[in-house]
Amino acid sequence: MSTPTPSSPAPAETTAVTAPGSTAATGPAAAGSDAVELTADPTWWRQAVVYQIYPRSFADGSGDGIGDLRGIISRIPYLRRLGVDAVWLSPFYPSALADGGYDVDDYRDVDPRIGTLEEFDEMSRALHEAGIRLIVDIVPNHSSNRHAWFREALAAGPGSPERERYIFRDGLGEHGELPPADWTSAFGGPAWTQVEDGQWYLHTFAREQPDFNWDHPEVREDFLTTLRFWSDRGVDGFRVDVAQCLAKHLAEDLPSSAELAEMPQDGTHPLVDRDEVHEIYAEWRRVFEEYTPPRTAVAEAWVSSPERRAKYASPRGLGQAFNFDLLTADFEADAFRRIVTDNLRQSATTGSSSTWVLSNHDVVRHATRYGLPPLQGREVKQGAEWIIAGGPEEGIDRELGLRRARAATLFELALPGSAYLYQGEELGLHEVAEIPDEQRQDPAFWRTTAEDRSFDGLGRDGTRVPLPWTREGSSFGFGTDGAHLPQPAWFADVSVEAEDGDPASTLTLYREALRLRRTLQGAEELTWDEEHSTGDVLALVRPGGWTSITNFGDAPVPLPAGEVLLSSAPLEEGPDGAPLLPGATTAWLRR
Ligand code: GLC
Repeated sequence: MSTPTPSSPAPAETTAVTAPGSTAATGPAAAGSDAVELTADPTWWRQAVVYQIYPRSFADGSGDGIGDLRGIISRIPYLRRLGVDAVWLSPFYPSALADGGYDVDDYRDVDPRIGTLEEFDEMSRALHEAGIRLIVDIVPNHSSNRHAWFREALAAGPGSPERERYIFRDGLGEHGELPPADWTSAFGGPAWTQVEDGQWYLHTFAREQPDFNWDHPEVREDFLTTLRFWSDRGVDGFRVDVAQCLAKHLAEDLPSSAELAEMPQDGTHPLVDRDEVHEIYAEWRRVFEEYTPPRTAVAEAWVSSPERRAKYASPRGLGQAFNFDLLTADFEADAFRRIVTDNLRQSATTGSSSTWVLSNHDVVRHATRYGLPPLQGREVKQGAEWIIAGGPEEGIDRELGLRRARAATLFELALPGSAYLYQGEELGLHEVAEIPDEQRQDPAFWRTTAEDRSFDGLGRDGTRVPLPWTREGSSFGFGTDGAHLPQPAWFADVSVEAEDGDPASTLTLYREALRLRRTLQGAEELTWDEEHSTGDVLALVRPGGWTSITNFGDAPVPLPAGEVLLSSAPLEEGPDGAPLLPGATTAWLRR
């Protein structure tokens, strides 16, 4: 990467957004060195880069087409070279996979198709030796319908103490033949399912995911046991699934779905984001504090405002919460600036650090999103319509999408706080649109009709296709015997093998960005460089003069003075020889 030093004047006006109590990131592995000692620093998570692994689709060590812990262990050198601070594992628990593993049969075991507890321990040790912390997904709102407690509840019958651990109700109508309420589940279809003896149970998600009754002391106690079980095995933190749903207030007469939709989500809504959910997390916090360093947690909390989200990030609760604002935003300077400013302000109020996410296992990959027409505020999941249309090439500008994705990633990685990366984004992967219907796995596909799909698309399988490691071979090196979701032919060119060592590849960009970030990262402070943040351009400055400037538009713009450290696309040269920042590009400078 060239390092020209242009001579335009240094920034003048600045505005600062500072998180109190913030410190520089510390700890993890310098890529390439031998065994690393992880520190007991209780703030390690504040500015960590966390890499999300969807275990079934990362690497398959056993050759059955399903990713597993052996596969993860074999790829630890890759993760280390990438330079991440932590990995977060989506569920690996025994499960019938009605919802990709978010239907848990047993919270304290490993699915035999994925591995064993001994392999888990080996993985945890090996990650730690590589300087990488381990976060696991915990799914407290619902178990699977194969969980021992749910089977006991079915066997014990209406009115039994066993049923109290879930949410059972008699139906309406003369013979209880109608559901207790007309609510719809998050994957479409009714949220209540009738069992053989006539009672109904509530499931916010798929029918195989019965909701727990969090008023029940045994449910509360059991999750504390689970948190300790994994913490004792060396797990450093937890990602808490649908954290806003646990506490519910179900009166005798249930409101209709129309009534629910009218109710404010201000802590008093019967089903979502109730204030008392934080009592649960205060209990969890006490468990986290039993360990050194304290275990961490990040809430997946889809709530009505950043203020409500901040409650989950309280240091007396989970400590951090996902901010998904970038997932729904168009690639646009004003939107990105507003999101960053709002979220830094929010995290400052709790003393937590901000989180940044561009892709995960539930959304269309950001390289694809940014190649599609902007949503401009329309309430549709980005990419959904394109996938429903079969992913037509004429509907997308793939090159522009990837170019913007690389720029957005460098922007994200320059922000104070922690960045959550999703497996495959470091390869610049696009969403796989070409999955035949009969091979789709996501309940969001199987449980919805063509009409309901307009919001959510055809489900989330396209982002969960097993990773390509090599150009050729069975499943592009994912394993030795195929992959559980079909991989397209174009995966060859975006495989790790194809990108490794290529100075222009997205993999090289991520490696270089993470390496630099480690050396540049300071206090959790950000200052907007107003002089250069005009129109389609956003420039931010971090302590020590680390500057990130993004051009969200098309026309090249002058770069501020400074040493260019990295750019997401090659810089251009102006008539006077000074470097220009082309459209859809981010550059990092030291000033
Ligand atoms: C979360 C997960 C998603 C899952 C749902 C139900 O939103 O991210 O994958 O389907 O919870 O557990």
